[in-house]
Amino acid sequence: MNIVVTGGAGFIGSNFVHYTLKERPNWHITVLDALTYAGNEENLRGLDPSRFTFVKGDTTDAELVDKLVSENDAVVHYAAESHNDNSLKNPRPFLDSNIIGTYTILEAVRKHGKRLHHISTDEVYGDLELDDPRRFTEQTAYNPSSPYSATKAASDHLVRAWVRSFGVQATISNCSNNYGPYQHVEKFIPRQVTEILEGRRPKLYGKGENVRDWIHTEDHSSAVLTILEKGVSGETYLIGADGEKDNKSVVELILKTMGKNPTDYEHVSDRPGHDMRYAIDSSKLRTELGWKPTFTDFEMGLKDTINWYADNEAWWKPQKEETEQKYSKA
Ligand code: NAD
Ligand code: TYD
Repeated sequence: MNIVVTGGAGFIGSNFVHYTLKERPNWHITVLDALTYAGNEENLRGLDPSRFTFVKGDTTDAELVDKLVSENDAVVHYAAESHNDNSLKNPRPFLDSNIIGTYTILEAVRKHGKRLHHISTDEVYGDLELDDPRRFTEQTAYNPSSPYSATKAASDHLVRAWVRSFGVQATISNCSNNYGPYQHVEKFIPRQVTEILEGRRPKLYGKGENVRDWIHTEDHSSAVLTILEKGVSGETYLIGADGEKDNKSVVELILKTMGKNPTDYEHVSDRPGHDMRYAIDSSKLRTELGWKPTFTDFEMGLKDTINWYADNEAWWKPQKEETEQKYSKA
């Protein structure tokens, strides 16, 4: 198999590239990545050059996308603007990357008859109340809250329309919140870990009651590879590892693991429109395709992630000041 991985220099995409080249020794991967503020070629360091090609370019560049799609068997599409807080301050890049980028890829796979796997998020389903016994399933109605989740929802709808109207061979996965090494310091867990490493206090939005359903990024990668190989075209699969935790507990656990007082954090202004709870029921993926997560001990995974940030200051330091400056602007 020769595949294109868009957004392969980002957090989850780069993990998928490393994971897939390790698990599938005969595959070749071409990464297409625009290297936005969130992309970093360092994330792809050490790969065998005979099995891996890096192309700097944008998913909205129809000519380039057409060429890469024509030369490969399949596309795994991760490239997106991915941070809710940025989407509240400046939504436009989210429309370009998440909607027009996906449209451009769909047109190319349609023209060349190639297989697509589209990466999406559980945030397209909106949020759940804290005491709601239900979790999201493939049947849950779309109800996105933020510009980020609205543009991801739009991209999912485009994929479904291209399958139904044009017979494109495509699958979609909607995954819960990922954690692990190489995640940008703007995101919740790396931001708090690096704040503590910088000698400052973690920042909890509102009361910290909001619940996220955490999954290790390598479990996300194994799920995507399973769907790429065994998934049924036209189907959607939810990916999750039963990892529901409220933000306050996660901050307390980070502080405790780093040898600090678990109550030594700040409450800061809440995110406008902040989704209360996400929770995934991944039964379909587990029963129909036989996938299961391997990183089921969150405390252990978090500890490894904290150690990674402590050991890789040179990786995150250049992003840190710019990120905190962005946060400090109203
Ligand atoms: P990220 O921000 O770390 O990486 C995104 C990558 O895409 C970067 O390398 C960036 O340079 C690239 N990119 C952005 N726009 C591009 C464009 N127009 N053309 C080419 N490259 C472009 O994001 P991430 O957290 O790794 O998320 C990857 C995907 O997974 C996204 O589609 C996101 O919606 C989805 N997802 C993320 C999570 C999560 O917890 N982070 C959960 C579920 C789904
Ligand atoms: P985030 O990593 O931005 O992911 P998402 O918005 O996609 O869930 O945030 C995860 C949770 O952490 C979310 O409820 C917002 C909260 N949060 C904080 O409390 N403090 C922070 O500094 C950040 C960045 C997020």
